Amino acid sequence: MKKLLSIAALASAAMSMNAQDVQLTLHPDQAQNVIPKEIYGQFAEHLGRCIYGGIWVGKDSNIPNIEGYRKDVFEALKALEVPVMRWPGGCFADEYHWMDGIGPQENRPRMVNTNWGGTVEDNSFGTHEFLNLCEMLGCEPYISGNVGSGTVEEMAKWVEYMNSDTNSTMAELRRKNGREKPWNVKYFGVGNESWGCGGNMKIEYYTNLYRRYNTYARNYGENRLFRIASGANGGDTHWMDVAMRECRYNMDGISVHFYAVRDWGTEDDPITGIPMGKKGSALIYSNQEYYEIVSKSLELEQIIRAHAEVMDKYDPEKKVAIMFDEWGTWYNVEPGTNPGWLYQQNTMRDAVIAASSLDIFHKYTDRVKMANIAQVVNVLQSMILTNEKNPSDPCIMTPTYYIFKMYNKHKEGKFVPADLSCEKIQVNDQEQVPVVSSSSSIKDGVITVSLTNMDVAKTHTIAVNIDGVKKATVLSGEILTSKDVHAYNDFGKKDLLATEAFKGYKLNKQGQLLVTVPAHSVVTLQVK
Ligand code: AHR
Repeated sequence: MKKLLSIAALASAAMSMNAQDVQLTLHPDQAQNVIPKEIYGQFAEHLGRCIYGGIWVGKDSNIPNIEGYRKDVFEALKALEVPVMRWPGGCFADEYHWMDGIGPQENRPRMVNTNWGGTVEDNSFGTHEFLNLCEMLGCEPYISGNVGSGTVEEMAKWVEYMNSDTNSTMAELRRKNGREKPWNVKYFGVGNESWGCGGNMKIEYYTNLYRRYNTYARNYGENRLFRIASGANGGDTHWMDVAMRECRYNMDGISVHFYAVRDWGTEDDPITGIPMGKKGSALIYSNQEYYEIVSKSLELEQIIRAHAEVMDKYDPEKKVAIMFDEWGTWYNVEPGTNPGWLYQQNTMRDAVIAASSLDIFHKYTDRVKMANIAQVVNVLQSMILTNEKNPSDPCIMTPTYYIFKMYNKHKEGKFVPADLSCEKIQVNDQEQVPVVSSSSSIKDGVITVSLTNMDVAKTHTIAVNIDGVKKATVLSGEILTSKDVHAYNDFGKKDLLATEAFKGYKLNKQGQLLVTVPAHSVVTLQVK
């Protein structure tokens, strides 16, 4: 039924518009930079129901679980092939004392999650639970260390606990707690948002702290830490400038965070102090609001370029990576939910933003080596949602999940430079949104082309030319689409939004590939 509708929609829209109003030329011969799989990274913070109720329900729960991990969530993550997961925060990281989260669960102290709603947590999910999860998922862990309220000694011991294979006190403690071999954690962040919740520092101060804490985060055995400094808030290039000047020889990467928010506003929630602002609803929005947030998300590109320019000054060989370890959409929480838990739904608008943001990351992989969408379950632009009221309901996959799955084909492919020409939609006096976003990659002679129609109302036909290919052969096609941009997946209902096979393409007489993409939809083709 769904397929019939989308074909009918395609046909009627195609009649009402010019053919091939968008031109895309791919240059596979210029493909150089490999898209690291880590661009598809996830972020799991102790925030709301991300860990507790999302990933972790505990072994004694009546919700089906594998060793305490919620079974349906685990399986959905396994199917997603997550390459890397960041934990325990976020803001939470700078108040997390890792020793509270090891040893027998009944002995672990309770803590107040002061950043996120004052929730009392029992520390049942700690270092072992996180690192074992990563192992079971086959993904790299990325640990965020506590600089804001932790000591150098505490951080040094954490690294030793996780990575030492000697008979040191920390390694023996790990063994006593049931883990013989070290986990060999590679990605290690020295603080999070040190300009804000991570200590409200100035960069001039943080650089000294970074150098100090980083010194004692030692390498053990063959394992080499990939050391990540806390980076700028959005486009704060002063932060990047000083960090690069003072720490570039001591770090492998530096984070950058950017959220697509319409308006943070000034009004704070009386309980949590979190700005409620005018971020708007995840589910209810006008076409104008759709474009405002899409336009905002595209600022990602300017931010990367601005930071890369500063980095090039100090590091033309591009030895230091941008780790874009927090990004995504941020709306007001769903009505009736805890304002400190940042629970939001996810529509086709988020799918469009996920796809176009990944397109941007693909373009800058000479500098950007990792990106972690915020967050994996039940928080902000999630992959997966679980039902707070009826936790036994099966989890649902969001449209963003399906984009990540669809885009998996780009992992480890070489980015294919391209020229795209299309009209732009005027959002306001200053901002425009191009009607199409695209990125392509090549692997084993097969080109993966992703095309997002960001136009909320109109179908567009994209003429795809591939240098050196006279007559393209399409091997496969997938689409994520819906008649209504506001569509979302909901508990107890079959997924309204899920990828389906796509056949909306043809070759014209000149051998050009013409791809007709419905409004607010995302297509990925594999072409030879
Ligand atoms: O992802 C939610 C929060 O946003 C993180 O804890 C923090 O690092 C950022 O401000």
